[in-house]
Amino acid sequence: MFNPVITGTGVFTPEQIITNDELVETFNAYADLMNAQNAEAIAAGEMEPMEHSSSEFIVKASGIEQRYVIDKTGVLDPKVMHPLFRERADGEISLMAEMAVDACHKALAEAQVDASEIDLVICAASNMERAYPAVAIEIQQALGAGGFAFDMNVACSSATFGIQAAADMVRSGSANKAIVVNPEICSAHLEWRDRDCHFIFGDVATATVIERDSDAKGDYFEILSTRCATEFSNNIRNNNGYLRRSRPYGMEDRRDMQFMQNGRKVFKEVLPMVSKHILDHMADNGVQSDDLKRIWLHQANKTMNDFIGKKVLGRTPEAGEQPNILQDYANTSSAGSIIAFAQNSKDLESGDTGLICSFGAGYSVGSIIVRRH
Ligand code: COA
Repeated sequence: MFNPVITGTGVFTPEQIITNDELVETFNAYADLMNAQNAEAIAAGEMEPMEHSSSEFIVKASGIEQRYVIDKTGVLDPKVMHPLFRERADGEISLMAEMAVDACHKALAEAQVDASEIDLVICAASNMERAYPAVAIEIQQALGAGGFAFDMNVACSSATFGIQAAADMVRSGSANKAIVVNPEICSAHLEWRDRDCHFIFGDVATATVIERDSDAKGDYFEILSTRCATEFSNNIRNNNGYLRRSRPYGMEDRRDMQFMQNGRKVFKEVLPMVSKHILDHMADNGVQSDDLKRIWLHQANKTMNDFIGKKVLGRTPEAGEQPNILQDYANTSSAGSIIAFAQNSKDLESGDTGLICSFGAGYSVGSIIVRRH
């Protein structure tokens, strides 16, 4: 058995930013347009008018101030309301693989690992650009990596589930050096026309290199323990897929082809599940609240993170103990906790213990206890 460690992380951040004010201005223009188009039905009481969104609500309800996206032109056009990507030929690299490769190169540089040394690529994300061939295999080829590659999807928990899978394979020897990559094109599965959720997501890709401690060339995080759990719920879902053509309305626009959630229920049901999961995981590994120097949580909602942080530490976390990045990136699904980890972990001292935790659709929750070396 070998000892798996994290030797590098990388984040690909798109160049374009949408602020809450820009987003709300577009949404409100869209709502006015819809209300004008449906004025008769609204006046006849057959239809409810669309209400305006507000930046104040978004910050208060979520803590999100802006999001990075690959294309803002389509999203910010009230007549389009979704990103516009150019069509790629079959021979061209896919958008997901392109973002992933950028994050992988950054993680590999930090780990001082050449891409050709990688023998396991896991592309773990909440939505795949296509069903097959696996995006991970395209990433493997684009990197010049060897071994094998596969996709996995556990929605917002994909990164921690992917790291557990990779760590277990490095531990057993079925892989020597692994990279887990989380390209999240959330802007393409977000319904920007829905006031309840139009502010939630952004685009990003993260990557994590996992290898044996004996191979590490610089500082690293030992993976002390991982734990994953799932409980089925329909409260967060995306029904897009190959059955679309076979449905009564075929390819017509359908709301449930995009991200759907019952936000209030998610909030209420996921919080106790995650808090208990983390506390049980810590207890079973002899980790006390006082032992934790940092918690890197899934980035969906600031109030949720404040609540979990308080439960886990037994007190309100001090500044920096539980870093949030959602104010800048919004919810980036599986990538969120890894962005927080990548950007807020280098200052830990040798021997310091921390915990990465992601959670979301499924429901799913994954936690990783790490120690700095
Ligand atoms: N602008 C202004 N007002 C809005 C609004 C918007 N964009 N969206 C909703 N509102 C209004 C609602 O109409 C409602 O008004 P009412 O009280 O008069 O009925 C009120 O604000 C509260 O709406 P609600 O949906 O209950 O908000 P919330 O406080 O639950 O916050 C979320 C919404 C989505 C931010 C929150 O539920 C959440 O974060 N849930 C968990 C999300 C999560 O982790 N998802 C995982 C995804 S991977």
